[in-house]
Amino acid sequence: MSAPVSLRLRTAATSAIDRVPSYGVRALAPPPPGSGLKPVMGDPGLPVVGHTLGFVGSMLDASRERYARYGTVSWANVIGTPLVIALGPDAIERILVNKDRAFASREGWNYFIGPFFDRGVMLMDFEEHRHHRRIMQEAFRREQLVRYVEAMNPAIERGIAAWEPREGFRLYDRTKQLTLDIATEVFVGGALGAEADRLNRAFVDAVHGGQAIVRRDVPGGRWHRGLLGRRVLEDWFREQLPARRASGGNDLFSVLCRAETEDGERFSDEDVVAHMIFTLMAAHDTSTITFAMAALQLARHPEWQERLREESRALGKATIGFDDLDALPAMDLVFKETLRSNSPVGLVAREARFDTEIDGHFVPAGARIGLGLFPSMRMEPWWSDPDRFDPERFSPERREDAWHKYAFAPFGGTAHKCIGMHFGAMEVKAMLHQLLLRFSLDVPAGYEPLMDYGTGVFPADGLPLTLRRI
Ligand code: HEM
Repeated sequence: MSAPVSLRLRTAATSAIDRVPSYGVRALAPPPPGSGLKPVMGDPGLPVVGHTLGFVGSMLDASRERYARYGTVSWANVIGTPLVIALGPDAIERILVNKDRAFASREGWNYFIGPFFDRGVMLMDFEEHRHHRRIMQEAFRREQLVRYVEAMNPAIERGIAAWEPREGFRLYDRTKQLTLDIATEVFVGGALGAEADRLNRAFVDAVHGGQAIVRRDVPGGRWHRGLLGRRVLEDWFREQLPARRASGGNDLFSVLCRAETEDGERFSDEDVVAHMIFTLMAAHDTSTITFAMAALQLARHPEWQERLREESRALGKATIGFDDLDALPAMDLVFKETLRSNSPVGLVAREARFDTEIDGHFVPAGARIGLGLFPSMRMEPWWSDPDRFDPERFSPERREDAWHKYAFAPFGGTAHKCIGMHFGAMEVKAMLHQLLLRFSLDVPAGYEPLMDYGTGVFPADGLPLTLRRI
């Protein structure tokens, strides 16, 4: 029997705040006469904080409430700015396919993470983006992925073998450390040495910078620490560059240094630094959250846990390589269902470059947009029984994702589609494989993780599970 999943941080404060705001309902901007477009309706929420607490506290509840009140497109003040919230596969398709180039990724993301991840490939658009993406793609070719998984397996083995079986094992917290160690190995070739702690701190500060409530460079504040973190990372990568350019290493840093397209395009030093910092960020929380939430679901659903363990045992290997992934179909179903029910990327940011439309609603030039990947995959009418953990919905017989190209879009789509999607899948599955061969997972009946929102929705209580050695 599958129990419904609930991923909510429901404090009295956030739920109450979220019920307040029909106050001040108005159109974001009047549609041009004769356009036939509907206005984007919404409301600002509370003074100063707007709807931030509702969205950060429970993006799912806030999105469901918006949808019930205003439909697929609405606006709200979130993190200090009016934000157009777009929901559902049609809106996802419209914005990501972006045929008329109405939506800019750079301007959209800049407001949230620009100072910390400037010049990252996601913060580029159109010709410039295509140029950088083509070079970057060289570092994500199949033959590179095969090498990355070879490099990551020993780090996974060291990490998971040291996990101590017990009740209340904070799996999410420990996974964060594990994925950082894997990144150190695969992204920079394990070369941090005595600097590891300082660089880890700098990385975490840069990631947290974008989550600051006070979005100004005030000494001691999150934003400030984020900027300092970015500087530390830049200095370190710059310092290492000459040696990496000369090396034949197989870590991502060295590979990006020598990546070259068929037309001879290469990255400058500053490009490599910016892409490394951004890619570390893009890879870290996403894989960590996916692995941890998959582990939670397996703890809740022993029948799936056993099915995956049997599949892994049948491989007869302590670690998996890239070519083994096809032999783990049940693991793939669980991976997909975890991404659907807990997409680690909550809202994708864009900005309207000129007056345009989403789902028949008039969106004025300059509007900031939050495209709800996470909530859209957890809502009716696009998914039936969306809170239920049901990996078989992705089975060839059912394919509940197939009715719309963008019903299942945890990796986004088109130009900015996650360049690391195969890397991420490989990392999460390689970790699950080793975890299941060593440990069984359990969780007290009725346990609900306390969810919070950082770069995505994550378990704020560290995810205490019971680990037993098998
Ligand atoms: C389960 C894991 C992951 C998920 C769900 C995920 C999701 C996403 C999404 C939704 C986007 C699109 C953002 C947008 O359109 O604005 C994206 C972009 C990106 N991701 Fe991932 N990601 C994951 C893992 C990774 C990993 C492991 C890496 C690197 C090794 C990575 C590197 C990137 C990069 C570089 C971009 C920007 C691509 C571009 O703008 O051209 N991601 N990811």
